[in-house]
Amino acid sequence: MSTPILGIIGTGMVGTGIARRAVDAGLTVVLSNSRGPESLAALVTELDTRAGAAERAGVAERVRAATPAETARVADLVVVAVPLTALDRLPRAELTGKTVIDPMNYVVYPGSNVPELDRNELTSSEFAQRHLTGARVVKAFHSIGPKHLLDLFRPAGAADRTALPISGDDAAAKREVTELLDVLGFDAVDLGTLADSWRSEPNTPLYALPYVGEPPAGLSVPDFVAWVQAAPGVPVPAARVRELAAATVRGPAGFRM
Ligand SMILES: NC(=O)c1ccc[n+]([C@@H]2O[C@H](COP(=O)([O-])OP(=O)(O)OC[C@H]3O[C@@H](n4cnc5c(N)ncnc54)[C@H](OP(=O)(O)O)[C@@H]3O)[C@@H](O)[C@H]2O)c1
Repeated sequence: MSTPILGIIGTGMVGTGIARRAVDAGLTVVLSNSRGPESLAALVTELDTRAGAAERAGVAERVRAATPAETARVADLVVVAVPLTALDRLPRAELTGKTVIDPMNYVVYPGSNVPELDRNELTSSEFAQRHLTGARVVKAFHSIGPKHLLDLFRPAGAADRTALPISGDDAAAKREVTELLDVLGFDAVDLGTLADSWRSEPNTPLYALPYVGEPPAGLSVPDFVAWVQAAPGVPVPAARVRELAAATVRGPAGFRM
């Protein structure tokens, strides 16, 4: 698959960051959120401008907004960049048979608890796969901030190319996601199945901090999140991702707000 159509359901921080990188890398993107295509007019205009007028002249439509169901229908790969709590509102029928990229993290706050996740019986991506029966779920993009996708992309073979962990139960879907990451300027490190994906979840050494470095001590949770999201990106080679994943011990699930 050389130039896949990338569908993005959820256009908050993560969906918008991935869309910007994808458009810069020459992909066609279809975007959706919970409020309908009209609400995405400003983002479509921004991305369309980013795609560049000259390049756009020869291409029918590089960027467009749709409903979540239409996004799932027309895309080759679909990123579901929504809160985990929105899983049961995703277009399950249209996502059947699709490669679905799961950047979701289990964020724990009053009312969001999932007992199987709290007991470490499932990873958040197994939980997502359970909801999206028939989709080929691959966990990716969950351990890096959207800004850092724009800081850290590099051409294939660059000495300072960054690697991202991926996990999934379907080998062909993981190959598609690896190819997509390559087009976006990143290497992929396969950590195994969705059950193995705890190795890159929140509260592990692979989650977020390798891509930004060590934050100042003593920050409150909101200040910590703000610091991580704004810090300059730090390249993380594939060997370091493998090393951190191998050394990880499973702790409590979820990012606690
Ligand atoms: N923020 C980060 O640094 C970061 C990094 C890695 C992974 N993540 C994970 O990535 C996911 C997205 O995070 P975010 O920070 O981008 O969240 P966000 O800024 O709150 O955006 C969430 C998006 O999901 C959309 N949405 C919610 N319910 C939906 C539904 N039923 N159908 C379609 N769209 C729906 C929202 O639509 P509206 O715009 O219409 O409200 C919004 O565009 C989360 O699971 C998070 O844990 C976040």
